[in-house]
Amino acid sequence: MKVREEFLPFSRPSIGKNEINKVTACLKSGWITTGALCKEFEDEFCHLTGSQQAISLNSATAGMHITLSALNIGPGDEIITPSMTFASTVNMIVLRGATPVFVDIDYSTLNINPDLIEEKISKKTKAIIPVHFAGAPADMDKINNLAQKYNLTVIEDAAHAVGTYYKGIHAGGFGHPAIFSFHPIKNITTGEGGMITLSNAALEKKLRLLRFHGIERDAWKRYGKGGNPAYDIAEPGYKYNMPDILAALGLAQMERWQEFNLRRSTLAQFYLEGLKGISGIDLPAFPEYDHIHAWHLFVIKIRALNREEFMNRLSDYNIGYGLHFPPTHTLSYVKEKYAGKTGPLQETERAADKIISLPLFPDMRETDVAYVCKAIKEIIKHG
Ligand SMILES: Cc1ncc(COP(=O)(O)O)c(C=O)c1O
Repeated sequence: MKVREEFLPFSRPSIGKNEINKVTACLKSGWITTGALCKEFEDEFCHLTGSQQAISLNSATAGMHITLSALNIGPGDEIITPSMTFASTVNMIVLRGATPVFVDIDYSTLNINPDLIEEKISKKTKAIIPVHFAGAPADMDKINNLAQKYNLTVIEDAAHAVGTYYKGIHAGGFGHPAIFSFHPIKNITTGEGGMITLSNAALEKKLRLLRFHGIERDAWKRYGKGGNPAYDIAEPGYKYNMPDILAALGLAQMERWQEFNLRRSTLAQFYLEGLKGISGIDLPAFPEYDHIHAWHLFVIKIRALNREEFMNRLSDYNIGYGLHFPPTHTLSYVKEKYAGKTGPLQETERAADKIISLPLFPDMRETDVAYVCKAIKEIIKHG
């Protein structure tokens, strides 16, 4: 087949006129850092998830950092999480001085295997951090029941989960903290950004303090008409607030999340059809429980040939790809720090050298998917 001239990226944000107009209006407004637009964006997230509070941030990683801090998670504490996740979660656990305890995944969905969690719970366990991998929800009933039984906190990693529903509940709508990401490859983007949703006013108060230096009131309340610019700090905090410029972009993207996800889902169906029956690749499976998939990623496992070789061949066809994720227990510092204590993680390791994320983004065309499927067939046939 003829190789396309234009590179097909793995992901590309969909930015339209409305996004540009909203950001421009913010730039012209005289207020560009955290303010009324962040509040509006937060309200949109409460509405989407059913949570009572939402806190906008400059990344999901920042959200994980202050959530662990606000829960006083630190030295001596163990945090249960899959190894098959982005490194930021484990980095934050380690930087808090706590210990990550890894649970294996289901090979077919790449989501945490909830039936393997209980055996990893110890007296030191403080929290469970499931990931809604690729936009498919983790089994929240099983996870929430275990958390209740052992008095643990659940922190949902909802980085992939704008539009993910578990048995009718949107990710982030269970009451415990959940953290969304708006990195450019995510289902909606603010360039960089994140959001914590929760239904816990006391925890919200701590998180808002940690988000902004430990200062009780955001700048817009201090510098607005009649505001008091004086402040005190009872406990030091970080500088993790989202500026209104980014919230403006986020608000425009929120108007389109359903359109985006419908498109992602349609393209995923094309992939599933186009790649059906090819021996040597495993397609993503759906969780068995009632859910709506956000199709953040389309991850296949390549068995027919070495992944490195497969990636090189995709490049020859001008096709981009992603890797979600190198398992965190295989990262050098994690291996060194927890030598001999992270395994066995049989299914994670089985998937690790086979997973590859194919191009998936709302502005992709059906003909692009058909091209990728055809290229994969050729690569597998001819090596
Ligand atoms: C599963 C997961 N968790 C957390 C993050 C961190 O998000 P951010 O880049 O917004 O900090 C990502 C981002 O790629 C992710 O994929």
